[in-house]
Amino acid sequence: MSDDLDRKLESKIEKILIDKQHRGKIFDGFDKNKTLNDVLDKPTMMTLYDMINDEIISYVNGVIKAGKESVVFWAVDKNKNDVALKVYLVSTSNFKKRSQYLIGDPRFSRIKKGTRNIVYLWARKEFTNLNQCYEKNIPVVKPIHVSKNVLAMEFMGKNGVPEKRLLESEIEYSDYEESIELIRRFYQEANLVHGDFSEYNIFKTSDGLVAFDLGSAVDIEHPNSKTFLERDINNITKFFVRRGLTIPNPLDVINEVTK
Ligand SMILES: Nc1ncnc2c1ncn2[C@@H]1O[C@H](COP(=O)(O)OP(=O)(O)OP(=O)(O)O)[C@@H](O)[C@H]1O
Ligand SMILES: [Mg+2]
Repeated sequence: MSDDLDRKLESKIEKILIDKQHRGKIFDGFDKNKTLNDVLDKPTMMTLYDMINDEIISYVNGVIKAGKESVVFWAVDKNKNDVALKVYLVSTSNFKKRSQYLIGDPRFSRIKKGTRNIVYLWARKEFTNLNQCYEKNIPVVKPIHVSKNVLAMEFMGKNGVPEKRLLESEIEYSDYEESIELIRRFYQEANLVHGDFSEYNIFKTSDGLVAFDLGSAVDIEHPNSKTFLERDINNITKFFVRRGLTIPNPLDVINEVTK
């Protein structure tokens, strides 16, 4: 989707949520909310509602980012901690794109048919991938909960504004080294290849780099894991080269990571 459409969708959802917020009834009486239902279908609204009842969140505050296949919301829990909710949209799910990261991963050998099931599996896969890294103290966004197509995670940022990604940050050589260290630890400690590792999916925080968007990450036993790893290293190398750094040859890096 173009940035323009993204922005339109974003402001549309934002408006609905803010209107509701002013009435103090966020996601209450959502049945009447036709426009929001156009973006989030009824089962998704029910899932959000269940998450409120289960006290995973208290309310939803606004939209962080609306993309074609997912919308990320800023929610708040009962202790007033910010929570990020990534809602995978069932209506625009691209099975062709995702299947290559599902089929062949030994952890997800049982794939139920049907778009909805595949979207749910995808959300669970992102949650599992985050957990596998988080348990090893690899700096990724902390996973909180997954339910159907909704993934709850620690909110990275302040007042609903996300941390800057590498893309929007000033870069030093140590960012390159940290990036490669992330890829190495994904591989060696979490047995994973990110699969979508780029300046778009890494926050640069005052405590260092934090990776996110792990839906595409595959087990290293996946038949294409090496290809995905090479692509991850090539992509991040290109980014740092564009930013004017002199970077080691990706081929040597791949050997280092898999050694
Ligand atoms: N935990 C979080 N805390 C704060 N902001 C977040 C968080 N997760 C995601 N975001 C924001 O939402 C944006 C989109 O998130 P993400 O990259 O996971 O989705 P996506 O790019 O739509 O996914 P995909 O690449 O699978 O289409 C991020 O660029 C970031 O600004
Ligand atoms: Mg992303």
